[in-house]
Formats: sequence, structure tokens, C-alpha cells
Amino acid sequence: MTYAVTGATGGYGSLAVQHLLNQGVPAASIVALARSEAKAAALKALGVTVRVADYSDPASLDAALKGVDRLLLVSGSDPGQRLTQHKNVIAAAQKAGVKLVAYTSITQATTSTNILAPDHKATEETLKASGLGYIFLRDNWYIENYAGDVAGAKQSGVVAAAVTKGKVGSALRSEYAEAAVKALVAGVAGKTYELGGPLWSYPEFAAAVGKVLGKPVKFVTVTEADKKATLLGFGLPEGVAGFYAALDTSVDAGTLAHASSDLEHLLGRKPADLEAQIRAVAG
Ligand SMILES: NC(=O)c1ccc[n+]([C@@H]2O[C@H](COP(=O)([O-])OP(=O)(O)OC[C@H]3O[C@@H](n4cnc5c(N)ncnc54)[C@H](OP(=O)(O)O)[C@@H]3O)[C@@H](O)[C@H]2O)c1
Repeated sequence: MTYAVTGATGGYGSLAVQHLLNQGVPAASIVALARSEAKAAALKALGVTVRVADYSDPASLDAALKGVDRLLLVSGSDPGQRLTQHKNVIAAAQKAGVKLVAYTSITQATTSTNILAPDHKATEETLKASGLGYIFLRDNWYIENYAGDVAGAKQSGVVAAAVTKGKVGSALRSEYAEAAVKALVAGVAGKTYELGGPLWSYPEFAAAVGKVLGKPVKFVTVTEADKKATLLGFGLPEGVAGFYAALDTSVDAGTLAHASSDLEHLLGRKPADLEAQIRAVAG
């Protein structure tokens, strides 16, 4: 049985490779797909096979997926390109005779109004129509998304977001990767997992940050425009600042406020609670 992981030089993908090894999958049965061979040096040192492939280069994907049985398709990071890129990976998986593809999607992808959801929904639909075995791993937010907020609160005593009521069910990126690997190794096709930790509100998040930092931290609601202006002040480009500010509005619409025990079931334990998550990113 040969497993492959795309985006293996990224945060999530490298953790997934490590979790495959932790699950007892031999290094010789793991193929790590990377854009850059140089960046994959640490993966090579683990003894796994590194193949260079780019989501935008179908021929490289065809070669990289030869002999692969089960694939963890880690969603791409370029919002403008990634649906086409995911379709390229799925087409290559069909040609290579891959039997099962697990895809990292988003909370309630099919009905979500989150600005990130359309690519995920369309990728899920493409996979379903492909005839390949599929598993959908609908990840809530990584707590790692909030590392900057925690660092900022250390200085200012404030967490600010354009959110009034929307809740989030974050978890550690490593927990999502571990759950993905467990689902892939179990190998049951046709499953959709809504993955996330306990739901929290932003005032609860600020209070938990305060507990971890050992100082009072208050939550302040700002407008989406204010949030964008702050991010521009940090030097983010216009489009990126606007995108992250708009994500707050998506969160406020409740797109991540979905409670589920799927993560706990796949992990076989309770995921880290909010304070433990914050400790992990507080540095
Ligand atoms: N749920 C959440 O809160 C959340 C947060 C962040 C991201 N995400 C999603 O989850 C994915 C994994 O997250 P992450 O933290 O691991 O992100 P990351 O560290 O940026 O990793 C993304 C990986 O995708 C690879 N990649 C990007 N474009 C590619 C292309 N054209 N061809 C081949 N590989 C390509 C990158 O390669 P290089 O190493 O060469 O750059 C990298 O290995 C992200 O891509 C994004 O879709 C979800």
C-alpha cells in the first residue's frame, strides 16, 4: 500500500507525513510531493520518497502519482488558482489508478457562505464525480491562524476582530493532520468528516489568551474596514489585507460555528482545549 501526501513541505503536509510514520506506515511506502526538492531535504532525511510536482503542471503530477494507492490532497494556497490545480491533481490520480483521495476542505463546504468555500465545494464535487474513492476532511480554523493575535495581545492587551457573534471551532494543525492520516489509513471511502475543536466566541478567546499570558486581555470588535486598515498598517498588500478582513466577516456569519465530535472520534481522544491550543502557539 503506497500513500502520497501533496504539499508535503508545508506545515500541514509535513505533519501528515510524520503522522503516517507514527501510524506505522513504513517510510518506503510514503511518497511526499513537493514543489522544491531542496525544500524537501528534511522529508528525504526521514527516508520517504520525494517526488517533485507542481499543482499547475499536469505532467509532473502524472509522474508523481504513479503507483500511489491512497492520496492526501492538501488544498492549495493560491485562491485564484487552486480549483484548477485541484482538478489537475484529481485528473492525475484518475490516470494513475489511485484508489482513495482524502481532501482537506472547509467546515460545511457544500452550504457554507465563507469566502473560501466555493473552491472547496467545487473540489468536493469534482472528486465525487471522478469515480475515485474519496474522503472529505472539512477542517475548521487552525489555531495557528491566531499566532499573530496572541503575539499582538502580549504587547497591547487587546484582541481585535471584525466579529460580533461568530464562533470558531479551532484545533491544532497537527491534530487535523493526524485525523486525516487516521482516516486515510482506515481507508473507508465516501466519508465526510467535520473536523474542529470546542466552539469559542472571540471574548472567550481573548479571556483564554489572557489566562495563558498571565495578563488581562480584552476583546474589541472593529469594523471590517478598520481591520483591513490595521493589516495594511502591518505592511500587508491591499488584496491580502482585504481578504483577511473579509474572512472575519465570513466568521461572523457563523460559517465556522459548527460543533462536531468527528475530530475526537478520529483522534481517539479529546482535541486540545482552547487554552492548550493557545499555549501551543504563544511561543
Ligand atoms: N483551516 C485553516 O485554518 C487553514 C489555514 C491555512 C491554510 N489552510 C489550507 O490548508 C492548506 C495547508 O495549510 P498549511 O498551513 O500547510 O499551508 P502551507 O504551510 O502554506 O503549505 C501549503 C503547501 O502547498 C504547497 N503548494 C502550494 N502551491 C503549490 C503548487 N502550485 N504546487 C505544489 N504544491 C503547492 C506548498 O509548497 P511550498 O512548500 O513549495 O510552498 C506547501 O507545501 C493550505 O494550502 C490551505 O489550503 C487552512
